[in-house]
Amino acid sequence: MSRPEAKAFPFPVGIDALSAHVPDTFLSLDDLAEARGVPPEKISVGLGSFEMAVTPPWEDTVTIAANAAEKPLRLGQVDPGEIGLLVVGTETAVDHAKPVATFLHELLGLPSACRTFEVKHACYGGTAGVTLAADWVRSPSSRGRKALVVAADIARYDLGSSAEFTQGAGAAAMVISRDPRLLEIDPRGGTFTRNVYDFWRPLDRREALVDGKFSIDCYLDALSGATADFAAAHDLADTSSLLDRFEAMLYHTPFPKMAMKAHQRFAEATGRAADAADTARRLVEPWLAMSRRVGNSYTASLYLGLAWLASTGGRLDGREISLFSYGSGCCAEFFTGRFAPGSQEIGRTIDAAGLLARRSRLSVEEYERFSRAKPGESPGAGPSSGFFLARLKDDRRLYERAGATGAVAA
Ligand code: HMG
Repeated sequence: MSRPEAKAFPFPVGIDALSAHVPDTFLSLDDLAEARGVPPEKISVGLGSFEMAVTPPWEDTVTIAANAAEKPLRLGQVDPGEIGLLVVGTETAVDHAKPVATFLHELLGLPSACRTFEVKHACYGGTAGVTLAADWVRSPSSRGRKALVVAADIARYDLGSSAEFTQGAGAAAMVISRDPRLLEIDPRGGTFTRNVYDFWRPLDRREALVDGKFSIDCYLDALSGATADFAAAHDLADTSSLLDRFEAMLYHTPFPKMAMKAHQRFAEATGRAADAADTARRLVEPWLAMSRRVGNSYTASLYLGLAWLASTGGRLDGREISLFSYGSGCCAEFFTGRFAPGSQEIGRTIDAAGLLARRSRLSVEEYERFSRAKPGESPGAGPSSGFFLARLKDDRRLYERAGATGAVAA
């Protein structure tokens, strides 16, 4: 369905290239359920999750971000010299002052004339980066240059807690440009903010604290609020046709069942409750594969869903999708995008299924050893490829690239 009002924008802006990275190791949640004395169906059916990515101690938020972001550069999809803005959205930074983005800037060889910073708002930080970068591309300060936005996180809760099953890790990197080759983003997203204590991580803690059931209510209320604001932004008095408009509906996915709950709420909020189950099977479920097998990757979760859709969804040219981003605390945004002509070419390079297939399975003991290890320790075989955290020296992180000579120290 075409939207004539989109012509009011002088040129299309959106995601020109997208790449993803997930850690090389994962844990079967059946194994974890058995170890914790939890019925496995509670996780596979109750949460919809099968596996979770486990970050080895030689990977951190910098390396998963860099390993995702180097792909579009390596594939020649973007020239580093064209990047004038680098934003990293993360809630699991490696330092309270020094942003992940500065490490990436060096590891990726970006130009010094580049605005470089980190954004935090829980899981919303990636979308904050994407929308901010798209506005920058539309503005005169971009001078025709492109932005690189990386959403990267490692979700950690206390071992033995109920939230332990909703851990995970991953990164998505997006080149944001004019005339994007993958997905044109409509700038009129609907937003919602409210101060809530649903999920938080005090400065001295590595593992997050959460009021689990309350966080689900906050997420759903934020979806209703953002949808109402989207309707206002698009002058939609009647939202009941929205369910028929989209080819896919991507929701922030801390665990797959949450996306199904979100879709149910969206259908109710738009007067289509009776169609929730049928439309979820077509619009939501097929794109949950990354979430089912990677777990929560906070800021990256929504964009790993997009990666799976773009990589496995076939020919999507001209098709419109919706994206819902939620960050605890909270801020949410409901926005839309349209696949560009020829988008399948870029989608194919993401190889989302290959990323999952190349991982190796850990035992519960190995997972617990990794979880308790200090950053930079190597209690396992060590990295086989890509950027890794070589060591900490005087609290400074030193990164190297497996197989490459010469440490990149930051
Ligand atoms: P819990 O207490 O382990 O589980 O907490 P439960 O008792 O609520 O059960 C979960 C589901 O399994 C229920 O289904 C049960 O009925 C079902 P529902 O009623 O919800 O449809 N169940 C079973 N099904 C089949 N066979 C069985 C069985 N037993 C029970 N035998 C919770 C689950 C998700 C709350 C917990 O894991 C948690 O706290 N996780 C972290 C918080 C979270 O993910 N919140 C999501 C919304 S907030 C958000 O998305 C933001 C976030 O990403 C952070 C950020 O923004 O930065 C988290």
